[in-house]
Amino acid sequence: MRQQIVAGNWKMNKTLQEANTLASEVMAMVADEVKGDAKVIFCVPFPYLVPIKNQLGKNSRIFVAAQNCSEHESGAYTGEVSAVMLKSMDIPYVILGHSERRQYFGENGSLLAKKVDAVLKQSLSPIFCCGEPLEIREKGTHEQLVKQQVEESLFHLSAESLQKVVIAYEPVWAIGTGKTATAQQAQDMHEVIRKHIAGKYGQPVADNISILYGGSVNAANAKELFANADVDGGLVGGASLKSREFTEIIKAI
Ligand code: PGA
Repeated sequence: MRQQIVAGNWKMNKTLQEANTLASEVMAMVADEVKGDAKVIFCVPFPYLVPIKNQLGKNSRIFVAAQNCSEHESGAYTGEVSAVMLKSMDIPYVILGHSERRQYFGENGSLLAKKVDAVLKQSLSPIFCCGEPLEIREKGTHEQLVKQQVEESLFHLSAESLQKVVIAYEPVWAIGTGKTATAQQAQDMHEVIRKHIAGKYGQPVADNISILYGGSVNAANAKELFANADVDGGLVGGASLKSREFTEIIKAI
């Protein structure tokens, strides 16, 4: 069965010293709380991957992740980081297609399909983000757009590969705005995504895929969001930068 996951997306925040403090505070509070099948993932800036990984130590439920990677394996791509490099550092997860990457760095569905392939080729798991901007939600075509995002970047995969992908539904209008999707809106879209996957790959495959909700998740709303049948955890931005708040979210899973 699919896994319950709480992932903290630090984005481009914190100095190394602050990052170390944050990770150690969270670890001190949650080490014994991450039970059963739940996983906690710290998605940190590239330079902090190794120091934070070392600090988290060996815990089979707590991981670090990169926030992006190149579609290329190696070569003259100044400033880029490859999945091969991440693999060599033992980094198991990579966020791909975050709306900030789509919006500010022009990443589109076909580029993301290549990045997904590059990550899976190294046996790492992509945390693939999808979600609609406000104008699309207001137009009422959000389900169509999200299905298209999933299709464009994931539907070329075999069933076996797809099951290594974690999907994060993050409505753009809810990211960093304090405006969370309602539990019902989240559940509805997660159900749409899972049905879409079931339509192509069959229900057992769809049932195996973790679909996280992201967009202003906080300590107060996490429990209600995570209680939905098709919501398997969260991708948390702002609230993952505060140790106590992030710990409360982890406890909600
Ligand atoms: P937020 O960000 O929790 O600050 O809204 C979520 C994300 O961008 O992953």
